[in-house]
Amino acid sequence: MGKVYVVGVGPGSPEFVTRKVIHVIQNSDIIVGYKHSLDVIRDLLEGKDVRQITLKTQENVYADVVKNLNNKTCVITFTGDPDFSESEIVDRLIEIFDDVEIIPGISSIQVAASKSKIPIDKSVLITFHITGDIEKEKEMLLQAIRDGRNVIMLPRPWDFMPQQVAQFLQENGVDINRVNVDIYEFLTLQNEKITKNKLSNIEDKNYSDLCVMVVYY
Ligand SMILES: C[S@@+](CC[C@H](N)C(=O)[O-])C[C@H]1O[C@@H](n2cnc3c(N)ncnc32)[C@H](O)[C@@H]1O
Repeated sequence: MGKVYVVGVGPGSPEFVTRKVIHVIQNSDIIVGYKHSLDVIRDLLEGKDVRQITLKTQENVYADVVKNLNNKTCVITFTGDPDFSESEIVDRLIEIFDDVEIIPGISSIQVAASKSKIPIDKSVLITFHITGDIEKEKEMLLQAIRDGRNVIMLPRPWDFMPQQVAQFLQENGVDINRVNVDIYEFLTLQNEKITKNKLSNIEDKNYSDLCVMVVYY
């Protein structure tokens, strides 16, 4: 039986790919991933059987890999760290392949924590980048802000972006003039952009899907 690795390749720049992950990729036959994660390791892909996936095609690709794996090694790449905000897919991979070895990467939230100088252990981490209901996550966010805690969070591209976050907190009695928000777009990429504001100032502004928010007093 072959072997399947689930690896994190960092949030964008090849400089954030660990030596361990480079080594595993170099010694693998099949590399699977979304375009953004494959772009990070483009230099390592020559001669490999590369399967670029989308939300629509991924199930078919996994089914094909599991059927034809034999003694080969397959690496499934994730942006950032597979242990943050990827569990819907990683759980599915464990179901399909029975066993996978997970190798961590550097998460976008770690890079945002470093840039804002707000330690992860003194923050509440929340991802809204999930399918389905986000009421529980919204409640966690509200409680954290009411308790005066720092929040490092991934917004949800289709309906809970920075503007909606500000609006939600305001509607629930938070004085958003007093709350700071750092917005980190395209982290570690050439077009990386950092915006520091009060939450009350972002209501009208549009940000990229590729962003991390750090919210704090
Ligand atoms: C499905 S989640 C994956 C998170 C990833 N596993 C991690 O550890 O960073 C996708 C979201 O991560 C965030 N993200 C990933 N890479 C980013 C980057 N280079 N800059 C800013 N945000 C990023 C964005 O919020 C994006 O919508």
